[in-house]
Amino acid sequence: MKKLLVTGGCGFIGSNFVRYWLARHPASKVVVYDKLTYAGRRENLHDLWETPNLSLVVGDVADLELVRRTCQTNEIDLIVNFAAETHVDQSILGPLVFTETNVRGTHVLLEVARELGLRLHHVSTDEVYGHIPEGHQSVETDPLAPRSPYAASKAAADQLVQAYFITYGLPVTITRGANNVGPYQHPEKAVPLFSTNAILGEVLPVYGDGRQMRDYAHVDDHCTGIETVLLRGEMGEVYNVGTGREMTNLEMVEIVLETLGKDRSLIRHVADRPGHDRRYSMNVDKLRALGWAPNHDPRQAVAEAARWYADNRWWWEPIRSGEFRQYYERQYAERLAERAPPKP
Ligand code: DAU
Repeated sequence: MKKLLVTGGCGFIGSNFVRYWLARHPASKVVVYDKLTYAGRRENLHDLWETPNLSLVVGDVADLELVRRTCQTNEIDLIVNFAAETHVDQSILGPLVFTETNVRGTHVLLEVARELGLRLHHVSTDEVYGHIPEGHQSVETDPLAPRSPYAASKAAADQLVQAYFITYGLPVTITRGANNVGPYQHPEKAVPLFSTNAILGEVLPVYGDGRQMRDYAHVDDHCTGIETVLLRGEMGEVYNVGTGREMTNLEMVEIVLETLGKDRSLIRHVADRPGHDRRYSMNVDKLRALGWAPNHDPRQAVAEAARWYADNRWWWEPIRSGEFRQYYERQYAERLAERAPPKP
């Protein structure tokens, strides 16, 4: 595992992983392969571009020729696939690109890995398990029951990865991550959206009653989880990565407001997301059995993330004043104009 192709390495989790991996494995070479869409930004690795063992290829994961050529010229041993369209609300507004990048893109990587004899690690999500009723925690063998176009595209990709292990014996592993929080997360996602809105004194649009439950895990714990699987995971296996502890969105919002010294009056309940999953919850014992454990408590992770946005306006202000405005209008204008639903 000396030469890694990190697809989606300019995105949120991908860039955190690249930073973590290069710090821990300075002798390895990392080629970031990224389409540099709205969420994949060079700035996410601003401090590392001078590093001699890091390089960037701008390209689409669905471009088989370019992926193949990039792997061949860089003598890649391992592909770590973070490349994905990831935002549920965007998948409701425009689902087709999710199939192209998440399903076809993963399929292209599998084909190149098969042809060149490479190992592939695929980064997936707890959303593939669908809504989880109280009292249950998803285990890796649970059936997949995705409920949004985004989650369905990730579930399809997972199944392709597993099919390549069964059919061709391709060396693959999968991690399924919980909601990650931390530096460089695009402000379309709840924690950076609420943090940046609170900093700007704008209302925080909480979908429905805000009692949906999520495991807000620190992105660094996801990076150590992936590293553990790369070093000690069994081929063909899936590993859940999270803290195993959930909180409601309202609890998360309160941590953000408290951290930033803002008032609860900024909370605005708005129309819910269609098909909104009420609860995700994963059992992470399988990864723990490999010697991994999360280092951050979810409350601490959310507070730390909110502080990062307060300290790094240089990073998010250009995003918020750019084309993000159009998305924000489309997603929130009507919701915010409606009379607020009664408080639960
Ligand atoms: O669970 C892992 C998944 O976490 C990842 O696979 C996805 O890529 C990532 O987007 C995230 O999905 P969620 O839909 O859970 O995350 P998001 O940050 O969009 O929303 C978190 C919760 O906050 C969710 O219950 C919806 C709610 N929410 C979100 C937004 C953007 C609101 O109440 N208001 C909002 O404006």
